[in-house]
Amino acid sequence: MYVPENVVSNQDLTRVMDTSDEWIQERTGIRERRYATRYKDTTATMGAAAARSAMERAGVTAADIDFIIFATLSPDYFFPGCGVLVQRQLQMKEIGALDIRNQCSGFIYGLSIADQFIKTGMYKNILLIGSETHSYALDFSTRGRNVSVIFGDGAGAVVLQPTEKDNQGILSTHLHSDGNDAELLSMPNPGFHAGYFWEQVRPKEPEQPYGGMFITQDLLDREDIYPYMDGQAVFKKAVIKFPEVIMEALEKNDLTTQDISLLVPHQANLRIAQFIQQHLQLRPEQVHNNIQRYGNTTAASIPIALCEAWEKGRVKEGDLVCLAAFGSGFTWGSALLKW
Ligand code: ACO
Repeated sequence: MYVPENVVSNQDLTRVMDTSDEWIQERTGIRERRYATRYKDTTATMGAAAARSAMERAGVTAADIDFIIFATLSPDYFFPGCGVLVQRQLQMKEIGALDIRNQCSGFIYGLSIADQFIKTGMYKNILLIGSETHSYALDFSTRGRNVSVIFGDGAGAVVLQPTEKDNQGILSTHLHSDGNDAELLSMPNPGFHAGYFWEQVRPKEPEQPYGGMFITQDLLDREDIYPYMDGQAVFKKAVIKFPEVIMEALEKNDLTTQDISLLVPHQANLRIAQFIQQHLQLRPEQVHNNIQRYGNTTAASIPIALCEAWEKGRVKEGDLVCLAAFGSGFTWGSALLKW
């Protein structure tokens, strides 16, 4: 994992918006988060830093990697994706680099893709990265406080390889989506939608005959360029889908919640994680949370939490590890691993 050195407490945020440490901790569990350092950290550079550490621990070099999967909702460029920026930065061979845009469940989606490529024998060393730089583009005025206090920056990465051992590795992955509520947690502007799906974010028709529908002056004037979230709707859906997709993974493998050594949920909100724990009757030591110190880092949250859990000795060989995520799209998923 790699997180930027800049620690931003709830108290720090009260300097720029009308909020309080008490409100943030009570609703989300977050005490502090990391923000990228301008001109030093980007989604791609943080991803590359996490990748270096993952490769070192896996005992491979950049030359061994034969495919990159990069999950993010905050790419350095609209295009090309961050995968190629990592390929360049780590001076890798001319391997394939795939960017995926599945927000909070990006890491689970990436893991599932990697799993298929490995099980078919196509690749032997896949680098999977989740990385986010939210802080460069959040609304830090009081208007954006319901969203901005939640998110943080950072990156996590893993190297996936085939194993010869029986009953080890990724047992199964489970992916879902429901686009009916796509806009409830979204950043529609700037975008190529021209207001087709959602009239509230329609850019004013420009005078020029062609183009001019992406970043318009009126979007800037209205400051309609920030993420939007209907927090309560997201909360309600998340507390249904998280347990559902965890149970789906367990049932598929004839296992029960008591078999889980460690659940590493996407760090959306501590209240959501606590709800899942209670609902599934898991003991506190069966769940790893670290949102208190990093906020919600979307695609990076699971690999960051997994890395910390591993460093603390909470993940050992033979353990049954469950990963689960829910987020914008809505998309959600789970993965069951025998470590
Ligand atoms: N500081 C102080 N007050 C705030 C803040 C803030 N940062 N944000 C909102 N408020 C105010 C609102 O203006 C509102 O004031 P009012 O009653 O005077 O109108 C009041 O607090 C309550 O606002 P709600 O939005 O109704 O607050 P809610 O209790 O729903 O909590 C929250 C908001 C924390 C976002 C909650 O809905 C939630 O956790 N939702 C889940 C969303 C989530 O976890 N998203 C993460 C990203 S998605 C994912 O990763 C799955």
